[in-house]
Amino acid sequence: MSPKPSVRPNTANFCSGPCAKRPGWTPDVLADAALGRSHRGTLGKAKIVELNDRSRKILGMPDDYSLGIVPASDTGAVEMALWSLLGARGVDVLAWESFGLGWVTDITKQLKLPDVRTLVAEYGALPDLSQVDFGRDVVFTWNGTTSGVRVPNGDWIPDDRAGLTIADATSAVFAMDIPWRKLDVVTWSWQKVLGGEAAHGMLALSPRAIERLETYQPSWPIPKIFRMTSGGKLIKGIFQGDTINTPSMLCVEDQLDALKWAEGIGGLPALIKRSQANLAALEAWVAKSDWAAFLAEDEATRSSTSICLVIKAPWFQALSRDEQTAAAKKISALLDQEGVAFDVMSYRDTPPGLRLWGGATVDAADTEAVTPWLDWAYAQVASAR
Ligand SMILES: Cc1ncc(COP(=O)(O)O)c(C=O)c1O
Repeated sequence: MSPKPSVRPNTANFCSGPCAKRPGWTPDVLADAALGRSHRGTLGKAKIVELNDRSRKILGMPDDYSLGIVPASDTGAVEMALWSLLGARGVDVLAWESFGLGWVTDITKQLKLPDVRTLVAEYGALPDLSQVDFGRDVVFTWNGTTSGVRVPNGDWIPDDRAGLTIADATSAVFAMDIPWRKLDVVTWSWQKVLGGEAAHGMLALSPRAIERLETYQPSWPIPKIFRMTSGGKLIKGIFQGDTINTPSMLCVEDQLDALKWAEGIGGLPALIKRSQANLAALEAWVAKSDWAAFLAEDEATRSSTSICLVIKAPWFQALSRDEQTAAAKKISALLDQEGVAFDVMSYRDTPPGLRLWGGATVDAADTEAVTPWLDWAYAQVASAR
C-alpha cells in the first residue's frame, strides 16, 4: 500500500462545470445583490449593463459586436443562434465530442436542414479543418469539454467568408484567446471559466450575424425565449440590458464579483496564464507518469480547461470498456472520498479516464498538489485488481 501524500490541494473542486469559485470567494460577495428588486428597475438594469460592459472589456470584444444575457445557459445561447440563423445557406457542422455531437443532432434531426455536411472526429482528435467550406455556415465547439480537444486558433477561418461561423465557446472564453473577427456567434455561460452560477447564457453576435437576423426569416416558428427580432429588426434591448426574461440577480451579482476579480488580477492575459499554468502542472506530471496520458493527441489542440487523461497502463488497456469504466470510477471515487479531487471521472461517452478542470479559478498550486493523489489513487486500484 503506497502511503497517502502529505499535501492536499486547498480546494478539491476540479469539476468541469459548475467550476470552482474564484480564489477567496465567500457568500459575502453577494451582499450587494439587487435581491427582491426588478431586473428592469434602475438598480437591477444597471447591474446587468455593468456585467455586459465588464465582460466585453475584459474579453476585448469589438465595439460593433453585440452581447446579451440569454436564457438557459450556454445551451440556450447556442440554440437561439442555430434556430434563428441557420437555413439561409448550407451548413458545415464539426464535432469531436459529445457537446458538438449534440449540435449535429439539433441541426440534422431537429431542424432537419436539407444541406448539411457533418465533419466528425473521434475522441482525442479534431476533424480536418481544411475541409471546411466557409461559403456555408459553420458550427463548431471552440473547446470540446468532454474530450479536452480545442481548435488551435482561428487561422483556419478566412476573414472574407460568406457564411457565418457559430462557435460554442463556453469552456474557452476567459481562458483562451478568442479571435472575435473570425467568429460571428460566440456563446458561453457563467459557470465555466470564471466559476459563476449556471442557467444564464451569453450570446455575442457580429454585425454579419445581425445582418442575417434582419434579412432572413426561418420557415419554422421561433418561441419567445429564442426570439431576437421583431418585425424583421433586431430587438436591440436584449443586447442593452433588457433581458428576454427574468435573470437571477443573485447570479448577476456573483458574476460581477468574478469579473471584478478577473480585472483585479490583470484581465484576460492573467486568466489565460492561470489556465495555462494548470495545464503545465499536469503536463509536467504526465511527462513522468507511467500510467497516465492526455486524450488530446496533438499538443496544439490540448485544452487548458477541460484536461482529459487516459490510462495507458497495459493492464488497463487490456480491460473491456465496462471494466475500464469501473476501474476509472474507482480512482475518481477514491479521490472524492479523500476530499482531494471531486467529480473528476471522465464524461460517460469518452474513453474512460479522468478529467480535471484547469480554468482560471483553479490555482496551479492545487493542480500540482493533486498529482501525487492521482498516483496514489491509481496505485490503490492497480494493486487491488
Ligand atoms: C462545450 C459545451 N457546450 C455546451 C455545454 C452546456 O452548457 P450549459 O449547461 O451551460 O448549457 C457545455 C457544458 O459543459 C459544454 O462544455
